[in-house]
Amino acid sequence: ASKEADRLIEMHKIASNFYHHLLLNTVEGENALSYLKKRGFSRDLIEKYGIGWSLPNWDSLSLLLQRNGFGLEEAEKAGLVILRENGDGAFDRFRGRVMFPLHDDHGKVIGFSGRIIDDQDEPKYLNSPETPIFNKGKLLYNLHRARVPIRKNGKIILFEGFMDVIAASKSGIEHAVATMGTSLTPAHIGKIKRLANHVVVSTDGDSAGWEAAKRYSEMLKNEGLQTDIAVLPEGLDPDEYINKFGPEDFAEKIIGKPHSFLAFIMMYARRNKNFKFENDLLQYIHEVLEHLVGQSSPVERDLYIRQLSEETKISEEAILQQFRKME
Ligand code: GTP
Ligand code: MN
Ligand code: MN
Ligand code: MN
Ligand code: MN
Repeated sequence: ASKEADRLIEMHKIASNFYHHLLLNTVEGENALSYLKKRGFSRDLIEKYGIGWSLPNWDSLSLLLQRNGFGLEEAEKAGLVILRENGDGAFDRFRGRVMFPLHDDHGKVIGFSGRIIDDQDEPKYLNSPETPIFNKGKLLYNLHRARVPIRKNGKIILFEGFMDVIAASKSGIEHAVATMGTSLTPAHIGKIKRLANHVVVSTDGDSAGWEAAKRYSEMLKNEGLQTDIAVLPEGLDPDEYINKFGPEDFAEKIIGKPHSFLAFIMMYARRNKNFKFENDLLQYIHEVLEHLVGQSSPVERDLYIRQLSEETKISEEAILQQFRKME
């Protein structure tokens, strides 16, 4: 790494130690600590993931970095402070947030995501900006810890949010990573491919989550990866599911029983449709057949056409005829 990168990383080390200390050992961190406890974070989890708290003050970190011999310009380059436009000093980017350190593939802290604890404020999460060491489109949260467990399991669990990665570790699931929001890039897929050829996608049980699961699994399949989808009950994300039904249940019933891509596509197509309406019914058959065309084996075709027929009460022959027309 360049000398500049080394200094940016050094600043992140100072910042993450500072935030972590504030959360665990100071009166100022007490509210954030009780917020985390309420969300089911034990002290062990807080330690393991290096979670911290940034003071609501304007310049606590700026001052600390300067005392350690760093200039405000390079602190801004690190994404940790913001220079005032009038040229009069700088202020901390992260203030009054629960701080989640983001690591590179070797385990060095290269950025942060900060969460508000009072759900009135905006935005919910604030991330580091793009810097010479941090690129959101390349980062898979938790990859440095998950590498060995992924190799051992022969598969990787892919979540939408890093909160879900942390929660899943309560289920003994250590082979999990997350993107920083709902976009999966070729760079992410490249990293996944080097570690495993089997991915289980586990996104939130809401519209954004279903869309993400469809997009992610199509991309992964196109890259030749075996892809299954773990589906959550409507309205819950993995973290919420674990808090509601417990970590064992999550490991067994959700991650342990994922759906094949085609089974998922049927559930996806069925979502928000009412078979009392002829249009919905026909649209459903059409959508499922579109996915069956060209990418399924004869056995799969038989299986899913039979299932379609059972669900819609349309004869297998009629569905098969339509399928042939679409081929
Ligand atoms: P909690 O509400 O704390 O449980 O977080 P979550 O993991 O359930 O977050 P959510 O499902 O809303 O979003 C999934 C991911 O999208 C998060 O982990 C973030 O990376 C990203 N995200 C969500 N909200 C924001 C936001 O306000 N700003 C940014 N930059 N990213 C966000
Ligand atoms: Mn969500
Ligand atoms: Mn299911
Ligand atoms: Mn979520
Ligand atoms: Mn959540």
